[in-house]
Amino acid sequence: MPPESPGVLPGGFFVAMLPQDPSTEPPQAEGDDAVTRPDPADVAHPRRIRSFVRRAGRTSTGQQRAIDELGPQLIVPYAPQPLDWAAAFGRTAPSILEIGFGMGETTAHIAQLRSQDNFLGCEVHEPGMGALLKLAGEREIGNVRIIQHDAVEVVAHMLTEGCLDGVHIFFPDPWHKKRHNKRRLVQPPLVKLLASRLKVGGYIHCATDWEEYAHQMVEVLAGEPALENTSSAADGFAERPDYRPVTKFEKRGLRLGHGVWDVVFRKRA
Ligand SMILES: C[S@@+](CC[C@H](N)C(=O)[O-])C[C@H]1O[C@@H](n2cnc3c(N)ncnc32)[C@H](O)[C@@H]1O
Repeated sequence: MPPESPGVLPGGFFVAMLPQDPSTEPPQAEGDDAVTRPDPADVAHPRRIRSFVRRAGRTSTGQQRAIDELGPQLIVPYAPQPLDWAAAFGRTAPSILEIGFGMGETTAHIAQLRSQDNFLGCEVHEPGMGALLKLAGEREIGNVRIIQHDAVEVVAHMLTEGCLDGVHIFFPDPWHKKRHNKRRLVQPPLVKLLASRLKVGGYIHCATDWEEYAHQMVEVLAGEPALENTSSAADGFAERPDYRPVTKFEKRGLRLGHGVWDVVFRKRA
């Protein structure tokens, strides 16, 4: 089935001055009025509430060089039409989508480890895109492609039913203030859409260090009839799969006594 027809994108985004490294601190919006606009075309959030804010981070010289040199090969432009995976990657292989890869350390690690898979990373933050391209260049990683665009629109308009073998959502912005919870990525409409893009047996793997969001993840994924939990633990959490590295950020949190929760569901037959 073709993807849903594209909606008209509103011009411009809410811009906030925020920390440069998206993996260290979640963004906080100024207020609800600044971040909500009516747009029936939005898939995950009917009122077009975005899960991110554009950050004022600077792209370093090295990141820019990586964008200039590797961008033509590894950046896939956003276009509201089905993605040709074989053309984008130059091969046919299991396809993994990552939403919000931040500075790309985890993506690069997993792509190297699982060289038999293709990884499509969506990230809106330009320095993050540059950072991942830089890592790809340094480590000669050839199985990553990047779309610098809202992943919700990528999933809706570029990914077709049953095209994915896996989805990674690692440490999504927790939007921990109650009034911002609605900006969280892991919510029923997006999960339903992601489930439709998965092949039977394909998985969704989320991780977070925000306990209340971790419970929301289990609840939302369990609420999607097309999915089943891979974990039989009473709390629904999974062991960290070996492919997901423990990042510096995560290690620091663990040292401070904070928890990290992995949630892995798969698509039912
Ligand atoms: C807290 S950071 C985590 C980054 C990384 N996954 C990690 O573990 O360090 C969340 C990232 O998701 C990105 N993001 C949030 N919503 C997004 C969306 N709808 N499409 C693409 N990227 C998004 C943000 O720009 C940010 O870089």
